Amino acid sequence: MVKIIAIDGPASSGKSTIARKIATYYSSPILHSGRLYRAIAFEIIKKKIKIDNRNEILKSIKSLNEKKLKSKDLYSTEIDKISSIISAKSYVRNELMHYQRNFPVNFAKNKKFAIIEGRDIGTVVFPDAKHKIFLWADAKIRAQRRYIQILKNGEKTGLKRIYGEIIARDAKDLNRKVAPLRPAVNSLLLDTSYLDIEQVFNAIKKIIKS
Ligand code: DC
Repeated sequence: MVKIIAIDGPASSGKSTIARKIATYYSSPILHSGRLYRAIAFEIIKKKIKIDNRNEILKSIKSLNEKKLKSKDLYSTEIDKISSIISAKSYVRNELMHYQRNFPVNFAKNKKFAIIEGRDIGTVVFPDAKHKIFLWADAKIRAQRRYIQILKNGEKTGLKRIYGEIIARDAKDLNRKVAPLRPAVNSLLLDTSYLDIEQVFNAIKKIIKS
């Protein structure tokens, strides 16, 4: 049976990068669960859906597909904001739970692992995951990493602004009533503030192999 590797942590803690490295190493499918929330936020903006229009939001969740999840347009400040707002709604989380729980069945047949990263994967979505990793890093260091990444993409931004956005997203993720960001009790807690990506990857490989 496919084993779940759950990777949780705050915004810009390196979850996506590390999840991709593990997925490549074990040739396993990967689900960036934040993309589910982002794809819904994208539709809300595109179709001008009101943020409290439950029926329309549910419709857009039901029409999610691979193509929408792979869209290159899911990363913007506006989508960051809307996805954060809808992620606090329990009906949104419940609906998206189905997609996440079906992911290994639908995409990891005959694979050893399925890698899923997000905020509540080890606590709520897959509490029985074989491996649970919680990545953390100081907010200033996360802001610095994000800043460099944005500049590399040729976009303009300010470090102070990024830091402010990270602090605001942390507050929302940590304090929402439904499925707040928390390390699962039996997770491997890695503070990556002073580790590079290879060191984090090596630590996780060791855990998976032991
Ligand atoms: O990981 P990300 O930045 O792409 O996530 C986008 C938003 O979705 C962010 O506000 C947190 C939220 N999210 C969540 O609440 N639960 C998850 N499992 C994944 C993301």
